[in-house]
Amino acid sequence: MTSAAPRCTLGPALQLLFTLVLISTGVHHTAAAYGAGLSFFTSAGASASSVTSASAPKVANLTGCPNLRIGIINGVPYHYEVLAGLMHTFRPYARRTDIYVNPYTRTSSGDGAWEVLRRSRVNYIFLTRNILKNIAQQKPFYDLLILVSPDYELDANEELLRHIRRHMTVAIVHNSDFNETERLIRVAEGGSSGARLVTLSPHTATSLASATGRQVDWVLPVYPFKPKTNCLDASEVDLLGMCLRGFAIQGKFSSLRRNYSAVWHQMSSRREELTTGYAKTLFHINVMGKGQDDRLGLPDDLVPFVTVLRRLPFRGFYDHLHHSFAILPMLGNRRYLTHKFSSSILSSFISGTPLVANREFLASYSMLNERCVYLQKDDEQELDVMLRLVATPATELLAVRRQMAETRRRVNERAALGPIVRAPTGRLRAAVSYFKVPSLWHGPACWEGYGAEDRLRARVFEYNVVRCDDAACNMTAAVKLFFIANPRHPTIHSRSPLSSQVRPASGIRVLSSTPKLWPSLAGETAKAAHDGLKSVLDVTSK
Ligand SMILES: *[C@@H]1O[C@H](CO)[C@@H](O)[C@H](O)[C@H]1NC(C)=O
Ligand SMILES: *[C@@H]1O[C@H](CO)[C@@H](O)[C@H](O)[C@H]1NC(C)=O
Ligand SMILES: *[C@@H]1O[C@H](CO)[C@@H](O)[C@H](O)[C@H]1NC(C)=O
Ligand SMILES: *[C@@H]1O[C@H](CO)[C@@H](O)[C@H](O)[C@H]1NC(C)=O
Repeated sequence: MTSAAPRCTLGPALQLLFTLVLISTGVHHTAAAYGAGLSFFTSAGASASSVTSASAPKVANLTGCPNLRIGIINGVPYHYEVLAGLMHTFRPYARRTDIYVNPYTRTSSGDGAWEVLRRSRVNYIFLTRNILKNIAQQKPFYDLLILVSPDYELDANEELLRHIRRHMTVAIVHNSDFNETERLIRVAEGGSSGARLVTLSPHTATSLASATGRQVDWVLPVYPFKPKTNCLDASEVDLLGMCLRGFAIQGKFSSLRRNYSAVWHQMSSRREELTTGYAKTLFHINVMGKGQDDRLGLPDDLVPFVTVLRRLPFRGFYDHLHHSFAILPMLGNRRYLTHKFSSSILSSFISGTPLVANREFLASYSMLNERCVYLQKDDEQELDVMLRLVATPATELLAVRRQMAETRRRVNERAALGPIVRAPTGRLRAAVSYFKVPSLWHGPACWEGYGAEDRLRARVFEYNVVRCDDAACNMTAAVKLFFIANPRHPTIHSRSPLSSQVRPASGIRVLSSTPKLWPSLAGETAKAAHDGLKSVLDVTSK
């Protein structure tokens, strides 16, 4: 076995962070081992601080995986804020990413999200009738397919996924009390795809893991909104009442989601405090979202303190949030601490505006901590915190905002290295562990499967194996590796050289676990390849 020629093509210099871990010896080749059984990152229940401290991220240069294909599906005309975060996370792969969206995304029902989404170089596909017909005929292939709203459009996902071939399907589940997870898993695993469930926050990952008995990770990709005027840069003089104006309650108008009456009650009972001191000029509530005003139950006498802003377009919405002192989640249901994900979290991250939150809230949404929110102490109401904030020096207010920006950076780092990107590398590790040379393997690699599975329509996986050490990944040491999971595949019996069918490349290794097939495998004999895996890995791990 010789080491491979360089396979890296030039492209935009991309960097992804990965954690390097030795593969554990106990992994067996089962369907579950493809991703599900391999846990390299903190999963359900872990806090963001353990993400950054426990596992030291390493930088991998994935420029050499030009054929990696990513598909993202969000057929509903909402959740654009989640989609924008994914678009941001996958921007290094924009040119190989297809995003399937609702045909009305470009119209007013898209709430201005298109203005933001269209700036990316990803290929948007509008799910019109004609496109659905094309998909059914062409059966596109992705290494990784992400479902953004499966708990809102499972019927449509099921139909679409009958026609989309893929290695790994990642389903983002918003609320863990979704009662059709079994069906969702069946849909995701259709066509022998690997499947992973992820949520947007630690507490929903914990409850979904216990509801399904599966490993569930959380990942919160955040679109880092850039306001026209960033209040982090404002001087003391410009900040209060100028850059920052009032407090925000955001999201769909619904008393099931948010307890508006709690805040109205606090305001009514302490009305005189709202009209004295700093509060007199600085206190105001902006209620931002969509829905009917009567759902807010705003008492007439509080009308002067409250502005209702309906259906602001995407940029205007986050701009307004950015210019608020803080966002009040006002959870209308305790299930937002156990099973549901509050949209206020993502809005806070996108706009860079801290939340008012108590410790119970932080225990659930544990990617946040006391330094990046305005803490509501156990004996305090939201109004106590608001009145305190309008009298707080600018430097202290901004220190919390800075922490919020730092936390946003960390959750995005986790999103880039975490459960989503991990999925196919987990499969690679599963393939390698299948050959029982576990401890040699130093983990993450560039991975791609496009050519192989797409053309041969079989479970033939093609990988570029790249050696990574503490400093970086050495792309010049890349080795191409085929893993044949289907020993009955006709290619194996037809003796046609697999390598020429796939793509010319030096340093090809063809592997199969079935000894009697070794003689019939093309190119180097599979036996040699199989035995040679050790040397492949020696090459890549030296
Ligand atoms: C990544 O690799 C490519 C070549 O494959 C190289 O041109 C680029 O400079 C590398 N980027 C970094 C940050 O090392
Ligand atoms: C799931 O819940 C919805 C209502 O929330 C209900 O209509 C549906 O029948 C439930 N499905 C199952 C499988 O329990
Ligand atoms: C809303 O808040 C009020 C006052 O704090 C409380 O009495 C009420 O139970 C809350 N409603 C819900 C649905 O939590
Ligand atoms: C990368 O791998 C190539 C080929 O194996 C080797 O010649 C080169 O020295 C390696 N570079 C580093 C920085 O390890």
